Amino acid sequence: MLRKAFSRLFCGTEKRAVDRADYDAKDIDYLKAQVGRAKLPLHVAIIMDGNGRWAQRQGLPRLSGHAAGGGKAEEIVKFAQEIGIKHVTLYVFSTENWRRPKYEVEGLMNLLAEMFEKRLQDLVEYGARIKVIGRRDRLPQHVLRAIIGVEDKTEANAGIFVNLAIDYGGRDEITRAVQQLADKAVLGEIKPESISEEHVSSHLYTAGVPGPDLIVRTGGEMRISNFLIWQSAYAELVFSPVLWPDFSERDLLLAILEYQRRDRRFGSL
Ligand code: IPE
Ligand code: IPE
Ligand code: MG
Repeated sequence: MLRKAFSRLFCGTEKRAVDRADYDAKDIDYLKAQVGRAKLPLHVAIIMDGNGRWAQRQGLPRLSGHAAGGGKAEEIVKFAQEIGIKHVTLYVFSTENWRRPKYEVEGLMNLLAEMFEKRLQDLVEYGARIKVIGRRDRLPQHVLRAIIGVEDKTEANAGIFVNLAIDYGGRDEITRAVQQLADKAVLGEIKPESISEEHVSSHLYTAGVPGPDLIVRTGGEMRISNFLIWQSAYAELVFSPVLWPDFSERDLLLAILEYQRRDRRFGSL
């Protein structure tokens, strides 16, 4: 106790970390009220990691972890909307995830198609605007069709903006932006020396979306794995040890509380 108070006084980083134990006995309404007392992140991005390990720990095939993860994504988006978050970006499938065994990739694609087809009505009803970011040229036709269906159906919604990153990679996204800008330069539409950060931003999949304020990675790994590498320049990173299918509304609130304790200086003093 004394040691904790001492380090709070003298160690700058101590005050920022949310001590989960401090909130163990608190109910969700208490956490919501705490979160409501400070500024909410406008845009929360989540690296939903740990589905495979979650399944394996229970002796289940990895794909059942992905199925559980899909349901969790829906639950967390609804909760984010309820607490007033405006933009959510979820990392669903990376440009590197094609390296996984064929069986897992195919299973994931089928789950995705099913998710987009079945949950469509639900998504429309709760006012979410769904947009998929990432390459579209490598997705199976049935997945692409299902995606476009949901995007069209939710186009007029404005409750919460949900970006689903599918066949998404930050390097791939930047490479494409560079290609488009080079094309414009060759056509004389833009001068190379006038290319600005705004030009680059507006050629990314996330054009028009504010950068994430908070990036949460579940599953215990502490890396960015090619997610929003341009947009995350000044995002606050919070790592949770919880495997994605076990991630709860409480865990999201704890991540936001941690974000709210950070001092965002943006290079200034
Ligand atoms: C994240 O869970 C979902 C995808 C990458 C598609 P993982 O499948 O990476 O789960 P772990 O990291 O192996 O537990
Ligand atoms: C990141 O998780 C991608 C998604 C969550 C979709 P990975 O499991 O693919 O990341 P690495 O391989 O551990 O870096
Ligand atoms: Mg993983």
